[in-house]
Amino acid sequence: MYKIVSIPGDGIGPEVVAGAVAVLRQLSAKHGFEIVIEEHPFGGASYDLHGEMLTTATLEACRKCDAVLLGAVGGPKWESLPHEHKPEAALLKIRKELGLFANLRPAKVYDALLDASSLKPDVVQGTDFLVFRELTGGIYFGQPRGFDENKGWNTMVYERHEVERIARLAFEAARKRKGEVISIDKANVLEVSQFWRNVVHTVHADYPDVKLSDMYVDNAAMQIVRNPKQFDVIVTGNLFGDILSDIAGMITGSLGMLPSASIGTKHALYEPIHGSAPDIAGQNKANPIATIASAAMMFEHSFKKPEIASEIYRAIEAALAAGLRTADIAAPGDPVVSTTEMTDAIVRHLGA
Ligand code: IPM
Ligand code: MG
Repeated sequence: MYKIVSIPGDGIGPEVVAGAVAVLRQLSAKHGFEIVIEEHPFGGASYDLHGEMLTTATLEACRKCDAVLLGAVGGPKWESLPHEHKPEAALLKIRKELGLFANLRPAKVYDALLDASSLKPDVVQGTDFLVFRELTGGIYFGQPRGFDENKGWNTMVYERHEVERIARLAFEAARKRKGEVISIDKANVLEVSQFWRNVVHTVHADYPDVKLSDMYVDNAAMQIVRNPKQFDVIVTGNLFGDILSDIAGMITGSLGMLPSASIGTKHALYEPIHGSAPDIAGQNKANPIATIASAAMMFEHSFKKPEIASEIYRAIEAALAAGLRTADIAAPGDPVVSTTEMTDAIVRHLGA
């Protein structure tokens, strides 16, 4: 039995989560495993109901389940709230409270969508790498922090155990891929990065079969757009990972396709990398694939069922190969399908 908390959230969140839930239900019927899905509010939807973006009840439910599936949070309606009530603050809180120290974002280019990239097809074709972003430390959480009338300050700090655990995950993942890790830092300027580099190299001693190299973050930003195929696994800190994973996502040309996993020792949360897209919310236009692929990552990382994950990816590819395109991935002149049509097609390709 798998116990999943679903958090549809705001904007297109409910529509894309419904797509992933339909896929989960189909898999449950097909393979005969039980899936219990419990829905909870978060973000603006929660604020409107309870005056809080993240309630204790939602947090407790997340602690008790096997995996969390999140749609998207935020929107113009809640943007003017004070900093501590913004959806961003709730997102950081849920990550910290659940101990989700590793954020995995695959940057994979689908052949069917090569023309959607802003880069030349021959530069991006075959791109397939995985970013491990440290998610509960670094400058996002370091103390002291603050600002007054004359200055503002934050602190980038990493402790040994924080670097060790994310480095281990990256090396383990590389073993199942091409066996190459690139650690990204700013060790030519920042002491915290020199420390990061030292620790990553110490951990590497346990993974002699994996190739490790280092890259400065500015160069990495350039290399990702110059030659993305050179990367297999990237490991980096919270802030650099935030920036680089957006670049990595965009070159695939299809933010609507990319899933993510945030994992810790006890808990895990899966969500599409795109936002709540308030401009198309409620119109049955959003691409459900990123959320459906996030459910695939759930089977891979939380349920240790990579064969089910592959089944989901194959169904997605089959729907794309059949020519189905939501608006975000359609070329000019392509017929466009709705969220529910794309979902139904993927469910059909999963088979009974
Ligand atoms: C992300 C987002 C968040 C972050 C924001 C919304 C707090 O950009 O998940 O990458 O900076 O981590
Ligand atoms: Mg970001």
